[in-house]
Amino acid sequence: SKRIPLIAGNWKMNFDHLEATYFVQKLVWLLRDARFDYSRCEIALMPSFTSLRSVQVLVEADRLKIRYGAQSVSVTTQGAFTGDVSADMIAHLGCSYVIVGHSERRKYHPEDDANIVDQVRAVLAAGMQPILCVGESFEERRQGIELDFAVGQVHDVTRDLSDEEAARLIIAYEPVWAIGTGMVATPDTAQEAAQAIRDDLRETFDAQVADTVRILYGGSVTSRNAVQLIEEPDVDGFLIGGASLDADEMAKIARLT
Ligand code: G3H
Repeated sequence: SKRIPLIAGNWKMNFDHLEATYFVQKLVWLLRDARFDYSRCEIALMPSFTSLRSVQVLVEADRLKIRYGAQSVSVTTQGAFTGDVSADMIAHLGCSYVIVGHSERRKYHPEDDANIVDQVRAVLAAGMQPILCVGESFEERRQGIELDFAVGQVHDVTRDLSDEEAARLIIAYEPVWAIGTGMVATPDTAQEAAQAIRDDLRETFDAQVADTVRILYGGSVTSRNAVQLIEEPDVDGFLIGGASLDADEMAKIARLT
């Protein structure tokens, strides 16, 4: 692929700030030991809000080459929104990325399309890159409408964006049936969805935008299935849940990619 792959770990609600710090040190040590080439593949971690400052201090003190980000963001910039965290607050912690529209947020919070568009705009306005999560549930796949569904979720967000904004998007195709289930998508299935999403970007924006945007696969990725998945031309990396809690797994996946 012409794009630099991104291996992003979504820790979800795991690790306090001490565990987060320990993990980062271990991962960096493993990568150093393996003489990992950071210019070939980007590595990012998405801790809880409570760990971001600790991760920032460590990354800056040791000039580490890993990146990090948040798992969600408020759609407003400041004010009386108890419990919310603004995009600027996240950006000022040195974050590069914010996950937007993860299926768990869509389900438990719930975040609808309008809210997700506003989150994407907030992240872009703060100078970070959104990792927009899309993907069908088992029901849509059973009905055979999975590609329309996933492309539709992307299109709902991108239709209001300029070429410049769209070029800064990262999209994660995460079929809901594959998340945390051990039922990883086949390389063909991941490629088919990534290609459909890229084709839609090509129709909506300059060809250069479609060539620039990284499309990740997420859902039960491990060091055992990552090699075949990353060989697909439109799969530009991974959003990893369970396996991202294991530093050895993250280091292995990064080295295979
Ligand atoms: O954001 C990550 C995805 O939800 C995948 O989670 O790797 O545990 O299946 P998983």
